[in-house]
Order: sequence, then C-alpha cells, then structure tokens
Amino acid sequence: MMNKLNKNILRKYLLNERRNLTQRAILEKSKRIADMLVNFDRYRQSKKIMLYISTKTEVQTKEIIMSAQQKNKEIYIPLIQKEKHDLIPSLVYDFDHELTLGELGILQPKREFYRLFPPDILDLVIIPGVAFTAEGYRLGRGGGYYDRFIPKLREEAYTIALAFEMQIVKEIPLEENDVPVDCIITEKRILKTRS
Ligand SMILES: Nc1ncnc2c1ncn2[C@@H]1O[C@H](COP(=O)(O)OP(=O)(O)OP(=O)(O)O)[C@@H](O)[C@H]1O
Ligand SMILES: [Mg+2]
Repeated sequence: MMNKLNKNILRKYLLNERRNLTQRAILEKSKRIADMLVNFDRYRQSKKIMLYISTKTEVQTKEIIMSAQQKNKEIYIPLIQKEKHDLIPSLVYDFDHELTLGELGILQPKREFYRLFPPDILDLVIIPGVAFTAEGYRLGRGGGYYDRFIPKLREEAYTIALAFEMQIVKEIPLEENDVPVDCIITEKRILKTRS
C-alpha cells in the first residue's frame, strides 16, 4: 500500500528529470549504451531478441534494431495486451512498414504483421524502465507488464535493462511481484546482477 504510493512519487520525479535531458544528450548517451550493448557477450551470443521500441525520452533503440538485423538476429517487439497487462513477442522484419502508433503512445505491429511467438523461444530481452537499483531492481511505468512477462522466459534466457546513469537510484520501494533484471547497461557502466 505504502510502497505503491512511494513508487508513484519516484516515478513522477524521475520521469520529470528525464524530460529535462536535451534531445542531443539523449542521442549521445544512447549511442554509448548501444555500443556497449553490441559488444556485450550475452548480446552477441543471442539470436532471438525481444527489444522495446523507445519513446522520445527513453534510451533509444532504433540503431540497435538496425544493427541486430544486419547481423541476422531475429528481433521481436512486445505486443501490449492491455486487458491482461501482459506482453507477447511479435517478430518484426521491416520497421518502417510494419508498425503503427498504439494506444499507449508506443509503436506496435499492425494487425496484418502480427507474428506471435511464446516467450520461451527468446534468448534475450531488452527492457526499458524508469528507475533501477544497482542490484537490478526495476521501477517501470506502473502496469506490471514486465513483472508478468519475465517469469515466462526460459531459465537460460537473459534480461538486460538500458538506462541513463541518472535513472540508477539507491533504493526502490518494492512489492512482492517485482522481478529484477540480470544486467543494466548505462552510458557509464555495465552492472551485472546475476552471476
Ligand atoms: N505477476 C503478477 N501477478 C499479478 N499482479 C502483478 C504481477 N506483477 C505485478 N503485478 C501488479 O501490477 C501492478 C503494477 O506493478 P508495478 O507498479 O511493479 O509496475 P512496473 O513494474 O513499474 O510496470 P511495467 O513493468 O509495466 O513497466 C501492481 O499492482 C502489481 O502488484
Ligand atoms: Mg514492478
């Protein structure tokens, strides 16, 4: 009860801080994060990757998507199941033609391009967030989408969050369903939280 309230306060505060970053700063930091990610072992070894499509103030993912496809990786994007607060991986080939702006202001596959797969085919999931602790705990947008989705992955699958350094905080008010990520990549460092 208390933690839900505190989560909302932290969420509002950090989303607002992130809005103060200039577009240029976002692009520069995102570029550094993308470079670290594509050189990261777990990423290089992964073939089937689910990746969020960034909104304006999140770590940008377009460049990562393009480079992954050039390396013949399969890219899935999360199809949002609003009623169930869940995500379904949808395989995407052509980003410029297959996507459209969805209800939550997030790009989604057009119906005719749905290619849906179960979560247990994925090797790697790249996750957005509002705030993280160095231990991998995550505060998202408040739908609990990733908390429901991550437990459906294979045990061997790996999760990486992309975040700006300003999104790393000392503590996050946790609830019992909150699932940590295995690794966080910022413009400054790679924080591995699972051995
Ligand atoms: N596995 C689950 N089963 C049932 N309810 C859940 C589960 N995971 C999370 N929830 C509920 O979903 C709501 C939102 O969760 P939370 O505030 O942690 O969202 P979040 O992790 O910030 O959001 P998101 O992952 O969508 O970015 C909470 O009320 C939480 O109890
Ligand atoms: Mg949560």
